[in-house]
Amino acid sequence: MNCIISPSTVVPNTVILDLPGDKSISHRAIILGSISETPSIFTHFLTAEDCLNTLTIFRKLGVPIDREGQTVRIHGVGRRGLKAPSETLDTGNSGTGIRLITGVLAAQTFDTRITGDASIQRRPMRRIIDPLQKMGAAITGKSLPGKTDIFPPLQIQGRQLTGIRYRLPVASAQVKSAVLLAGLFADGSTIVEEPEACRDHTERLLLGFGAQLERIESGEGTEWQLTPSDIANPTPDIPVRIPADFSSAAFFLVLGALAGPITVSAVGLNPTRSTLLDVLSRMGADIAVTDVGGESFEPYGTLTLSPSSLANTEVSGAEIPFLIDEIPILAVAGLFASGKLIVRDAAELRVKESDRIESIVRMVTAMGGEIEAYDDGFVLTGGARIQPFEVDSHGDHRIAMSAIIAAMVAGVDAKVHNVDCINTSFPNFMDIVARCGAEIK
Ligand code: S3P
Repeated sequence: MNCIISPSTVVPNTVILDLPGDKSISHRAIILGSISETPSIFTHFLTAEDCLNTLTIFRKLGVPIDREGQTVRIHGVGRRGLKAPSETLDTGNSGTGIRLITGVLAAQTFDTRITGDASIQRRPMRRIIDPLQKMGAAITGKSLPGKTDIFPPLQIQGRQLTGIRYRLPVASAQVKSAVLLAGLFADGSTIVEEPEACRDHTERLLLGFGAQLERIESGEGTEWQLTPSDIANPTPDIPVRIPADFSSAAFFLVLGALAGPITVSAVGLNPTRSTLLDVLSRMGADIAVTDVGGESFEPYGTLTLSPSSLANTEVSGAEIPFLIDEIPILAVAGLFASGKLIVRDAAELRVKESDRIESIVRMVTAMGGEIEAYDDGFVLTGGARIQPFEVDSHGDHRIAMSAIIAAMVAGVDAKVHNVDCINTSFPNFMDIVARCGAEIK
C-alpha cells in the first residue's frame, strides 16, 4: 500500500494518549512470562505484527496465552514446560523475535526450525549462533551468495547447554538477551560482558521474575552474571503495564519539536532508550517531562515538545546504541535544523530492517536534502528546502514513518510507497498522524 500526504498544518497542542506499548518489552513479556513457573498479566501489550508473531510462537510451543485487546494473560509453563511445535516458527519481520527466541530454543529437548519474512532472511545470525555454539548449541542456517554470515531459516537441534563467559563484540541487546536467555537453561553460570552498554529490558524483566542475575561494574564496562534457576512472577494477579514505546513516541517528539507543541503520555523513559531526548535537547529543543513513574520496573513519563529553532549536532560513540532505532527520525529533525548533522559509529544501521544508512540517504535525497554516506553513518546538511517528494520505504517501518513526519513538517505533497510495514511496530500510526493534522489518503 502507498500513501499520499497533502500539505496541511500540524494541529498545535495535540495530546497523544494512545501510543502503543513498547515493542522490546512486549516481546520479552511473552518470552519470560511463558517460561515462568507462575502466570502473568501484562497490559498495554503491543498488538503489532512483530509481537503478535512472538505470541503465536509461544502458543505453538504449548504455552496457553489469552489475549483480549492489549491485555495478555500468560499461563507460564516453567523452564521445562515448552513443547515441540508441529511446524516452522515464523517471526515475521522481527529481528528481536528471531534472535531472542533462538536463545530459548537452543536449550530445549526438542528440535525446531525458525524463520521470518524476506527481510529477516537477509539479517545476520552469526552474532547469536557463535556464542550459542560456544554454549553447546547446534544451529545451522542458510548462506547467501557473496556473504560470510549465516541467515534464517535456522534449524535448531535442542541440546543441554553449558554456561559461558562471553564478551559482546557488538553493542547488541538482541545478542546479550539471546545469551542470557540460553543461560537460564544451562549448566553453570553465564556471564555476559558488555563493554558498550545497550538496552537492558531483558535484565530488568529477569530481575522482576526473580532470576539470579547480578550486575557487576568494572572499569571495562558492565558484566551480567546469571545463575540458572526457575523464574516466577511474584505477583501473578497484578497486571503489569508496559509503557508506551519511546521509539514510536520519537516520531511525535520530533514533530512536536519542529511544529508542535505535542504531548505524549506514559512513554517509556528507560535511560538505555531515551538518548534522543538528550540529543534533541543539545540541538535546542524545548522539552518538558512530567508525571514520571515506574522506576522499579521500567520508568515512564509524559513529554511535551514545543517548537524552537534547532541546531544540528554530532552523534557517535556510546550514544549510538541508545538511539539506534531513532536515527531515521533524527535525520528528519536534522533536515529542519541549522548546520550539519553528523552520525558516526553507527555501522549497525546497515543490518537493520533495511540498510538504514542507504534508506536514509535515499529518503533525504528524494526530499531535496543534501547527505553524504559513510560506512558507519552520514553527514546531513540542515536547512534544506524540502520539495514535494516520492519515496519508497522498501518495507522498513521506521523509514515509512519518518518520511510521513517530514512531509507534515514541510507541508508538501508527498507519496510514500510501501507503508504496510508500519504495522510491524505501530498499528495506529496513521490515526495519530491524522489527529495531528495530516491529510493522508
Ligand atoms: C532490540 C535491540 C536493538 C534494536 C531493535 C530492538 C531489542 O537491536 O535495534 O529494534 O529489543 O533487543 P540490536 O540488538 O541488534 O542492536
